[in-house]
Amino acid sequence: MGLKLENLKTVSVIGAGIMGHGIAQVFAMNKYSVNLVDVSHEILNRAIEKIKWSLDKLIERGRISRVDADSTLSRISTYVNVREAVNNADFIIEAIPERLDLKIQTFKDVDEHAPFHAVIASNTSGLPITPMAEATNRPDKVVGMHWFNPPQVMRLIEIVKCKYTSNETAEVAFKLAQKLGKEPILVNKDIRGFIANRVYRTIRYEAFAMIQRGEAKPVEIDSAFRYKLNLPMGPFELVDFTGAIDIEIGENTYFNEMRNKYPEWEPHEEYVKIREYALKLSMEYHGKGWLGVKTGKGFYDYPKPGQWVKVEIPKDAGEKIDPIQVLAPAVNLSAWLVRNNVSTAKEIDTSLKLGYNFPKGLLEIADEYGLDNIVNILRDKRKTVKEDYGIFYEPDQLLLEFISRGKLGKKTGEGFYTW
Ligand code: NAI
Repeated sequence: MGLKLENLKTVSVIGAGIMGHGIAQVFAMNKYSVNLVDVSHEILNRAIEKIKWSLDKLIERGRISRVDADSTLSRISTYVNVREAVNNADFIIEAIPERLDLKIQTFKDVDEHAPFHAVIASNTSGLPITPMAEATNRPDKVVGMHWFNPPQVMRLIEIVKCKYTSNETAEVAFKLAQKLGKEPILVNKDIRGFIANRVYRTIRYEAFAMIQRGEAKPVEIDSAFRYKLNLPMGPFELVDFTGAIDIEIGENTYFNEMRNKYPEWEPHEEYVKIREYALKLSMEYHGKGWLGVKTGKGFYDYPKPGQWVKVEIPKDAGEKIDPIQVLAPAVNLSAWLVRNNVSTAKEIDTSLKLGYNFPKGLLEIADEYGLDNIVNILRDKRKTVKEDYGIFYEPDQLLLEFISRGKLGKKTGEGFYTW
């Protein structure tokens, strides 16, 4: 018998680092008993201290009472042994480091010691979930549950179905996320980067490609994103802030091997091509040690390594940039995701609004701009780019189908949305 949400009482969180401690806090605040496990008491003590600090902040802001904070803490037990931490669990989520070998071993251990009804979830951002499911005797009860940082604050959670996840398991994880006060979206396939990061990365790749082709400067694109799209940061500021270059280069070390082993994880050949092109700029910056805030220099300069200050970006710097030029390829990628039943237009938009602070959804913007105009931009890019990644700009069949049916977006009343 499958797990029912109303029977779900005890949650084990494996890994008490940046994500794990926050995830444990959210479950405990929502009245779940939490078993939090890591490799040492020292790390666990630090995690509890961070949770206390966060609860104190919530008390200061009048969001919870001291009694709420104390009862939240009393619901969290700590363990240094995975086996003991999962033997009474109904739901387990792992947030250990991003290494597939480690995760596979953990899934094996958990599977051996957790009750058979328990669901096992992974918080991975960049690894395939299918091999983690294959390491267990309950692959239908394995699911991706991808939180955003900080887990206490960010409302988006991606619920990812891998090759084996049953509808029942995905539904429990989805409803659980809702019960925690989050806004989950369903990702129907175990695809690299899932939705929010996959779509945002396309925006970043195009921003990089425009720099590489000499069409714009970072400050110009960032200015257009801040002042024309009303985003808190442009793509280059965000790269500096999150250390995305380092992350991307790190992922690149296992990308090809992983892709050969799990082709379904990265099936979009054209997308791989633009990724490779943009990677050249990442490699150049990586080689120079320009990793952003953490090294004190990236696309912008910072006072010293590790010290972030808001970059000064003049409003007029972005005058000649139309942000739709940067967004159109991501609309194309989104059309691919919708056509391949990975996600829906609405969920793609939700993911960017909640995961990346977009004031408006990408596909809403596309519908407003006109899908015929989007296709024209893509065709122009296709004509300009002679290198092999140019194929990525070939308009997706879904966009062409919309246009052939007269669905041009808001102006005709139909496009990705019905207006
Ligand atoms: P982290 O390095 O801060 O924490 C990982 C923790 O796992 C460490 O405390 C480590 O001691 C512990 N650990 C290692 N091996 C273990 C084992 N065998 N058993 C129990 N604990 C073990 O990492 P972070 O940033 O929290 O990431 C965890 C996962 O969440 C990764 O898969 C990452 O990709 C994903 N993620 C991270 C986000 C972020 O912004 N940091 C956002 C969304 C997902």
